[in-house]
Amino acid sequence: MRFKTVLFTIVIVLSALISLLAYFTLTQRRDIATTTYIGGEIIYLPLPRIRSGDHVLSVEEAIAYRRSIREYLDQPITIQQLSQILWATYGVTDPLREFKTVPSAGATYPLEIYVVVKTNGVILENNEYLEPGVYKYDWRRHALILVKKGDFSRDLMREALNQEWVGNARVNIVIAAVFERTTRRYGDRGVRYVYMEVGHAGQNVYLISTSLGLGCVVIGAFNDDGVSRVVGLSSDEKPLYIISIGVPKTPYRVSEHSIHNYILNNRKTP
Ligand SMILES: Cc1cc2nc3c(=O)[nH]c(=O)nc-3n(C[C@H](O)[C@H](O)[C@H](O)COP(=O)(O)O)c2cc1C
Repeated sequence: MRFKTVLFTIVIVLSALISLLAYFTLTQRRDIATTTYIGGEIIYLPLPRIRSGDHVLSVEEAIAYRRSIREYLDQPITIQQLSQILWATYGVTDPLREFKTVPSAGATYPLEIYVVVKTNGVILENNEYLEPGVYKYDWRRHALILVKKGDFSRDLMREALNQEWVGNARVNIVIAAVFERTTRRYGDRGVRYVYMEVGHAGQNVYLISTSLGLGCVVIGAFNDDGVSRVVGLSSDEKPLYIISIGVPKTPYRVSEHSIHNYILNNRKTP
């Protein structure tokens, strides 16, 4: 009888411990999975939404309202917006095969995505700001890995022929490529495949920014070595695009009517 009671107590205590352990593991996972979690040098971004109600533009509207935007309000972008932008740039859409938001020749995925965050550039859910710095996008964990702390937007601007929108943007995405990943399979032809792929990624940034009410401009005019140094690229990573992003002073809008008029007027002349 006594033995049975002891055994019963042990079973009860053990199950309570297991339940507690499961509870803490699961709740901790949920915290990390759904909100910004800053732990040391890694920042887990809010999970990307594909059925978000925040923005309601159709694909056609996003295409029509896309414009290169070079003037920004003195306002931060949100961590949720940054999360959506990075996912659209190079996030996963086929978890089984690890295929991404952009097409890639032979699924070789040569691109690496960096973010240069300005002081007070990105506001977090708790109303604090993301530490200014250079971060690398970890697409597997949908996270930012800190490369170096500090506001490097002016340094980046200097290396981009002093284009002032680079210095004013709340964040600049820098897309670099490891050409070897693609040329290993396709030889010299792989070089053009890499350039094509970065164009796809750039267009995704334009469209998601428009859809989120933000504005951006792609920058191709810059000093390669200077940008590599500012961002801290490794020797096999070559910078291809800077994309400046902020809240637009004047969002671009066009009516269907004016596009139709343009087309119909042109039809009058043979
Ligand atoms: C490969 C490439 C490089 C570009 N480089 C720059 C640049 O260095 N600075 C800039 O302000 N705009 C740059 N742009 C943006 C173009 O100026 C812009 O797309 C063009 O004026 C058409 O305007 P839209 O984008 O509003 O349609 C670049 C665009 C492309 C595709």
